[in-house]
Amino acid sequence: MASRSDHGIRIPSALEPRKPRGARTHTSLPEGLDHYELRRRLTRVEGQEVLWEYAVELDDEFVPRLAESSPPPFQPIDLEEFFGQPGPVEIEIGAGKGAFISQYATLHPERSLLGIEWTRPIAWFAADKLKRRPQLRHARLLWADANYFLRDRMPPACCNAFHVYFPDPWPKKTYRNRRIMQAPILAQMRRLALPGCRLHWGTDYQEYHESTTELLGGMDGFRLLEAEAEPTDGIMTSFEKKYRTEGRPIYRSVWEILPAG
Ligand SMILES: C[S@@+](CC[C@H](N)C(=O)[O-])C[C@H]1O[C@@H](n2cnc3c(N)ncnc32)[C@H](O)[C@@H]1O
Repeated sequence: MASRSDHGIRIPSALEPRKPRGARTHTSLPEGLDHYELRRRLTRVEGQEVLWEYAVELDDEFVPRLAESSPPPFQPIDLEEFFGQPGPVEIEIGAGKGAFISQYATLHPERSLLGIEWTRPIAWFAADKLKRRPQLRHARLLWADANYFLRDRMPPACCNAFHVYFPDPWPKKTYRNRRIMQAPILAQMRRLALPGCRLHWGTDYQEYHESTTELLGGMDGFRLLEAEAEPTDGIMTSFEKKYRTEGRPIYRSVWEILPAG
């Protein structure tokens, strides 16, 4: 599942011709793997109370380390250790500068909240926002690609809600495979869902709204609850405020996620 989300590191596909750049055996495809997987390490960022990273490991030459197996071993986190309280958890994917998670955390001091953001400086910015407010220690920010963190590190049946607001629409057809709202991450949401779990999502991009409505409508385990939803708890995200000011249409909906199996 190599993707652009490997924080700017370009991972060649197995089918691409290799450039003759000298022997870098540690980036060749190990026997038995049909695609690349990279080793990632989950660490708390030093000096930060709320910021963690699930980042690609690099060797001494700054070359990403390949995982020994594909997918890498499943290593679920201990929720109590991670959040300082047991689950359940709510997750925002693509938390941006943290406008939603900080306001939502203020309204819900009893909930364990996790914002995942893959753009490094933006994740740090959001974490600073949370860090400045000691009353928000039930919220965490994680610099990571949500696809890998959910798949590799989140235990099953632990989530009450997912929030996905104004994700990058990747309008060009050739880049649509970079969108976050795709079957693999939705399958992970089902694996993580507790009974009554909600998916709140919104976009300003009509085609993304329509194709995702079709995708969710055709998947087992997703049931439309509100086709035209208001901002969750009245909180508008940074992008939403901007888009509303520009007069763009906003498409928000709420879905129930039925737990897998
Ligand atoms: C257009 S911004 C919207 C930010 C915020 N949700 C808002 O509405 O203001 C989308 C954000 O999602 C992040 N993102 C995209 N794919 C991601 C992924 N796979 N995991 C984590 N963050 C992701 C991007 O880095 C970007 O900051």
